[in-house]
Amino acid sequence: MHNDIEKILLSEQEIEAICKKIGSQITADYENKKPVLVGLLKGCIPFMSDLAKHINTHVEFAYMSVSSYHGGISSSGDVKIKLDLDISIKDRDVLIVEDIVDTGSTLSTITKMLKSRDAKSVKVVTLLDKPAGRVVEFYPDYIGKTIPKEFVVGYGLDYDEFYRNLPYVGVLKPSVYTK
Ligand code: IMP
Repeated sequence: MHNDIEKILLSEQEIEAICKKIGSQITADYENKKPVLVGLLKGCIPFMSDLAKHINTHVEFAYMSVSSYHGGISSSGDVKIKLDLDISIKDRDVLIVEDIVDTGSTLSTITKMLKSRDAKSVKVVTLLDKPAGRVVEFYPDYIGKTIPKEFVVGYGLDYDEFYRNLPYVGVLKPSVYTK
């Protein structure tokens, strides 16, 4: 698995530092608000788990599963809900937890949808941001690291459902997806 990685973009140490930094910002911004962290499955899992450990106030966990990729390395732009929330977010402060923002289609669709459910506020935290990939205007509220327009895997991010378990984020060798 590690041999398929061309270079490491975000080491385990950098990820830890990002979780600490954003966790303390969220702690300060959401003190006494009891926000709902809405993780977008499946990529959010490692980040949401590590980030939440650094949020020192009450938070609730909820998950949604949406798809915009259909197995390849570029977004189709067509966002589908595969699994919806199992709680009401009416009058709640919602913080969507995402692994990466690329075209912006997924998050602009999901934030609009959650706002239309009468959430008190809807914000977005993403581990990675690829602004060069934007098709839809979208600005995440908390960003771990801004990266160039490269296809990355690891720490929740997949290629064809694999590599999510890498403890770091790396760039996949093009030979892996041109096979
Ligand atoms: P967007 O709708 O194009 O912003 O895409 C968001 C989703 O695309 C993310 O949740 C990821 O699942 C996926 N994605 C975007 N870029 C990458 C990447 O470099 N590697 C793996 N998945 C990606």
